[in-house]
Amino acid sequence: MSEAISKHPGGREVRFSRFGPPEEVLEIGERELPEPTSGQALVRLLASPVNPADLNIVEGVYGVRPELPAVPGMEGCGEVLRCPGGELAVGSRVIFLRKGGAWAEEMVLPTEDLIAVPEAIDPVQAAMLGVNPLTALRLLEGFVDLKPGDWIVQNAANSNVGRCVIQLARERGVSTVNLVRRESLREELLGLGASVVLLDDEEMVAKALEATGGRRPVLALNAVGGDSALRQMDFLERRGSHVTYGAMSRQSLKVPNKFVIFKELTITGFWITKWLEESARAKIEESYVLLSQFVVEGKLEQAVDGSYPLEEVRAACRRAGEEGRGGKVILVPRRG
Ligand SMILES: NC(=O)c1ccc[n+]([C@@H]2O[C@H](COP(=O)([O-])OP(=O)(O)OC[C@H]3O[C@@H](n4cnc5c(N)ncnc54)[C@H](OP(=O)(O)O)[C@@H]3O)[C@@H](O)[C@H]2O)c1
Repeated sequence: MSEAISKHPGGREVRFSRFGPPEEVLEIGERELPEPTSGQALVRLLASPVNPADLNIVEGVYGVRPELPAVPGMEGCGEVLRCPGGELAVGSRVIFLRKGGAWAEEMVLPTEDLIAVPEAIDPVQAAMLGVNPLTALRLLEGFVDLKPGDWIVQNAANSNVGRCVIQLARERGVSTVNLVRRESLREELLGLGASVVLLDDEEMVAKALEATGGRRPVLALNAVGGDSALRQMDFLERRGSHVTYGAMSRQSLKVPNKFVIFKELTITGFWITKWLEESARAKIEESYVLLSQFVVEGKLEQAVDGSYPLEEVRAACRRAGEEGRGGKVILVPRRG
């Protein structure tokens, strides 16, 4: 005989019952939630960003495909409404990282998936801490022992990850060559602490060497692929590391043999999902404490293009897929 589970109204959720373009397949519905038990918390959503991975998951083209129907949303910031085991104080602000499920007004989550963040943190900034800033931190810490004065190069430098890389590198005294698609981004990225901003074109290596006084980077961060990645390899120092973490151009990496034979480059990749699965909770918490502190101190800020209530999720996803945005698109429970 199955035991009846007490349920309560959990507000609205965004859901999809088939894979496809988010503007077509996402819907809004009401949900019921089980009462949280020990080891769980009832959390009210404050904000959640629309990341490229969220769109890819709804399209069915991401590295993992959820069972349908599913609620999208990989990260967010919320407020604890109830926590029967007392692991988290009622009213405390938390961030969470999920394989999905964040685009809902309320959710019951395991407390081990929740990280408390300072009350002083802006919930929208906190909502974006889970994926991109942590990715930027791991890209800077996980591959090369970077020292003040070292150079690194990154493409898609205007992406949220790229902007976090610029700010976190600046805090370490590491210089950055930042490759972009539009000249107009130069002043803004220099303002964040970028050392050099260049167009990602055939002249990049010559111009970059001129700008760095002949210094070559020890680390290249690649979120584009194709020719852009090869130019980074050309620019890298001998025995430098080339790390692919995104594929915005959807072009493959076809690496000329000379880069691995004569230059002895290390060519590798990174996926934050695996890092989170395989890392100790203490290490993950330590990383988020550091990043939260940077946000509170004004040393790390992510740009926001605009906020949309959950019921406007289709418009939010359309905007998130457009070129020339001024930052992340944010979902909030209600307007205002
Ligand atoms: N591996 C991981 O663990 C991990 C974690 C987080 C993110 N990512 C990946 O990192 C990348 C950036 O994520 P994000 O959330 O920071 O992105 P975002 O803020 O949405 O920015 C996307 C960036 O990609 C650029 N871009 C788009 N299409 C392009 C193309 N065809 N060629 C060159 N550049 C192009 C855009 O350039 P404009 O500024 O000129 O529009 C923009 O700078 C994505 O590929 C994402 O999937 C990977």
